[in-house]
Amino acid sequence: MKITRRQFIKRLSAGALVVGANPLLSACGGITRNDLISDKPTAENLFDLDEMDINILSYASLAPSALNVQPWFVRVVDRHRHWIIGADPRRRLPAIDPDNREILLSIGAFVENLFIAASTMGLFADFEIIAKTPFDSEIVSVKFTKTPKVDYPLKRLSLRRTIKKGLSQKELKNQTINALSAPIKDCFLYSPKGTAHAACIRDGLMEQYRNQLQRDAAQAEISSWIRLADDDAEKFRDGLTLEGMEIGGIPGWYLRHFAEPSDFMKPGYREKSLDYTAALTKEGAGWIIITSEGNDVAHLIETGRKFEQMALLAREHNVAIHPMSQYLEEKSGLDMIRMSHKKDIFPQFILRAGYRYNYPPPVSLRRSVCWFLRA
Ligand SMILES: Cc1cc2nc3c(=O)[nH]c(=O)nc-3n(C[C@H](O)[C@H](O)[C@H](O)COP(=O)(O)O)c2cc1C
Repeated sequence: MKITRRQFIKRLSAGALVVGANPLLSACGGITRNDLISDKPTAENLFDLDEMDINILSYASLAPSALNVQPWFVRVVDRHRHWIIGADPRRRLPAIDPDNREILLSIGAFVENLFIAASTMGLFADFEIIAKTPFDSEIVSVKFTKTPKVDYPLKRLSLRRTIKKGLSQKELKNQTINALSAPIKDCFLYSPKGTAHAACIRDGLMEQYRNQLQRDAAQAEISSWIRLADDDAEKFRDGLTLEGMEIGGIPGWYLRHFAEPSDFMKPGYREKSLDYTAALTKEGAGWIIITSEGNDVAHLIETGRKFEQMALLAREHNVAIHPMSQYLEEKSGLDMIRMSHKKDIFPQFILRAGYRYNYPPPVSLRRSVCWFLRA
């Protein structure tokens, strides 16, 4: 006899405690980064790039990106190291990021990882912005020259991750704040929890998230990047998995086995998402806002690079950072910020921050290099 979802939940809740303690439950699904077996690259799908190039590009691809869309592609102009880095039009987010702001910030983070990885291998990556508008698909040209190897722990790139849960409320030490703000200098604002400004950020964020949850186009776009089933996770290697969203235990198990990404469009799921986010905003030591001096392609790429430098340092200082972009994705949110600050302020990231002492390993998936290379 087939049971309905409602009956299933009823039965499940009766045995919830027992099931929750069962280690088999957590072992029955979930694909994380280390579970992915590398593709078999061929000289053809790698355009004759050598092992060092592939290494540089795989480190670059560990960069964070909005909804983990991994918007980048790399066109090999000359296999002797002249590449074009672009934003794949199929990976844009028109409903939540109509100006490609988050796409370009993500490409900036990719550029920074590429720069760091190349420098440790004795290559200086010389970048030139070639995009004339935020909608161009080819964004940055990169050529390499030989340079002495830079001593930088590449492990930082593979250990960095976004953390949403378990952020300590313990105040961030001045030493930590100084270290994190160093790459961003005047474009870094920290508001500790308990201050009026922190409360204002939280309230504004929740108001804008409520607005976003009412926009069907935004919800449809977000759900199209949710990968609940292991098969989808393995097939696409992008988007948000349950592990990436940090939804575990019984809710995670239920969603993995019984839900579809399109269920996130339903009113009940929207309400749950609001509650989940409200709970997250109560965690952490405070809020970081990263601004930029302009909103053009060059400023966005530069800010994405600086954000990544900061994120890599955050890992080093056991600070978890969680970008919460809903505020900036709603036009009314941006208007609200502009009304209460200078009109020409360009906020690019709103982040929750807090110490996380048992830093978990990264789980979000990545496409392999041959998937984003182009001739
Ligand atoms: C421009 C940008 C915007 C982001 N916005 C959000 C957000 O609103 N909410 C969130 O949970 N994560 C956000 N993230 C984090 C991504 O979801 C995360 O980088 C991606 O899922 C890959 O996971 P990883 O950072 O652990 O490698 C954002 C990241 C970037 C670069």
